Amino acid sequence: MSESSNEVVISIRDVVKVFPDQAGNPVRVLDGITFDVRAGETLVIMGGSGCGKSTLLNCLIGELRPEEGQILYRTRAMTQPRDLLAMDEAELNQVRLRFGILFQSGALFNSMTVAENVALPLKEHSYVDPSIIDIVVTMKLQQVHMLPHRDKMPSQLSGGQKKRAGLARATALDPEILFYDEPSAGLDPVTSAAIDDLIMDLSKKIQVTSVVVTHEMDSAFRIADRMVMLDKGRVLMVDMRDAFERIRRTPPDQLAGDEERLIHQFLNGNTKGPLTDSETFQLYERQIIAGTR
Ligand SMILES: Nc1ncnc2c1ncn2[C@@H]1O[C@H](COP(=O)(O)OP(=O)(O)O)[C@@H](O)[C@H]1O
Ligand SMILES: [Mg+2]
Repeated sequence: MSESSNEVVISIRDVVKVFPDQAGNPVRVLDGITFDVRAGETLVIMGGSGCGKSTLLNCLIGELRPEEGQILYRTRAMTQPRDLLAMDEAELNQVRLRFGILFQSGALFNSMTVAENVALPLKEHSYVDPSIIDIVVTMKLQQVHMLPHRDKMPSQLSGGQKKRAGLARATALDPEILFYDEPSAGLDPVTSAAIDDLIMDLSKKIQVTSVVVTHEMDSAFRIADRMVMLDKGRVLMVDMRDAFERIRRTPPDQLAGDEERLIHQFLNGNTKGPLTDSETFQLYERQIIAGTR
């Protein structure tokens, strides 16, 4: 497990993001999200499909602008926290250079070799001497075991190799924070586990803070130091992995209350079933999320 401290890198406070639904009515897709990301940790954000994970991640990287709340960053260059929502474009771009992003959509450029893809951010955003760029690219590819494939085109790579090449590119500028959206989506279980290993390995080797969004529980429990459980745009629980592990393993009738039973059900992937389908359960769920229970 990576080393984590109590130093906070991102404070997310009361973040609200509204989207119109199909009828055009406003829906609070993120409905008052609050938690911290600590330096050096691997924080996993989990929750069912459509609960707002990607929306939250896009708010954290400044791609989407929340209607309410604060996203306070404290990168190494900052003497005090700065709210992402108060930054102008120039400052936002500076902060973004400290991020590495591996998104589902963050694909490689198909017209470039693997090595050229990794070199791209270095050419565009750093003052690294061209003779050094090749050394950095070699190092980044080595880190993800992709050096033998450096001169291949993306179309020649397997799904897992594409992810690894994307990861090499995401780490090209030595980011402080790596964001992943469903890193193992579309991969078979063995390849998916190998990507998990790589995420953990990188977090140790380059001491990066990792924020990983996933709906795959096995993967979440493998890599997380801490976890955030989202449901319908609200935070159900934030805690160390062990606290989630306890709830996952405890039989529901031995759990403390409805909230823990609800979380147990999510963690065990039983999002469908007599309990979840009953009106009583849905009422519980709404009350727990609303904090009125
Ligand atoms: N650009 C958008 N416009 C309208 N609704 C959106 C948009 N993006 C996401 N949503 C809605 O917000 C909800 C959360 O989506 P998303 O964050 O992608 O969920 P997740 O990543 O957890 O599966 C979904 O109901 C989705 O339909
Ligand atoms: Mg998503």
